[in-house]
Amino acid sequence: MEPDFNKILKEKYHYRKVENLTDMLLDAQEIYGFLTKDSLQSISLHLKMPVSKVFSVASFFDGFRFTRKGKYHIRICKGTSCHINHSKFIIDSFVKELKIQPGQTTKNGLFSLELVPCLGVCNNAPSFMINERLYSVDGIVNIKEIIENLKLEFTADGIAKGS
Ligand code: FES
Repeated sequence: MEPDFNKILKEKYHYRKVENLTDMLLDAQEIYGFLTKDSLQSISLHLKMPVSKVFSVASFFDGFRFTRKGKYHIRICKGTSCHINHSKFIIDSFVKELKIQPGQTTKNGLFSLELVPCLGVCNNAPSFMINERLYSVDGIVNIKEIIENLKLEFTADGIAKGS
């Protein structure tokens, strides 16, 4: 059972300090997997702050999501090493192929995109991860092929499970 977010707000943040806003957002994301409309509304009521302002703070940070993660969650590094090694090409390719922006999930729930500050493998930049699988790009990378293979893997999984 999910923890009661309103109860957490009342107990953990009973001083109702605006300085705790990002911690509240982190707690909400931890519980629901993303920032639901209800969780933003709860924080807004708790801090007596317009929900638009809560949303604007949350959307300022790359780490907050407003949709559920996809079955394949793609995290692309936008750190300095990756940036100077052309990570923009990787970001643009995923955006183009999946037709979603970072922070979004495809309509079929299969893929979601996120930009992260560093994956901790700067020597192998540029890098990205799909779920727990790390990809370090040391030549031409075919993002379209990676996506197609994951779609096939998903379909094969479904057939194997009889769905
Ligand atoms: S900067 Fe990309 S992995 Fe560290």
